[in-house]
Amino acid sequence: MAKRNIIKYGDPFLRKISKPVENYDGKLHQLLEDMEETLHAVGGLGLAAPQVGVLKRVCIVEYDDKLYELVNPVLIRSRGKCVDNEGCLSVPGFRGLVERPEEIDVEYFDRFGNLCKQHAEGYFARVFLHEMDHLDGILFPDKMIKKIIDDD
Ligand code: CO
Repeated sequence: MAKRNIIKYGDPFLRKISKPVENYDGKLHQLLEDMEETLHAVGGLGLAAPQVGVLKRVCIVEYDDKLYELVNPVLIRSRGKCVDNEGCLSVPGFRGLVERPEEIDVEYFDRFGNLCKQHAEGYFARVFLHEMDHLDGILFPDKMIKKIIDDD
């Protein structure tokens, strides 16, 4: 396992569209494990592969002490709207208020290629959507309605 560097806001790499995963192999597992090590080292609720320099449709979410590995995730359904603040490991220094759906259903594959479905609400849904946006080169400042400067 190895911790990987996180690419920061301003680098055009973060704007690229990630490609679907085709092989559920050791290379994918290594990527997921490196992403998990990186997330645990820096702290945060999620991380997407393009943030560590890999243009694959892979992201991880850690919420309520449970880790979700999402490969080729797709938003199936969304309902409602809510505004809350979010930040990003690639965007240090500020957070922002972003409007997102209140409830979602997502389909994705696990590291072995098994189809998974997940319903998520509130901030849990927000984290999924934030990470999935990274796979399309979208960062939260693109969507924020108010910037919040960190005091520390
Ligand atoms: Co992010």
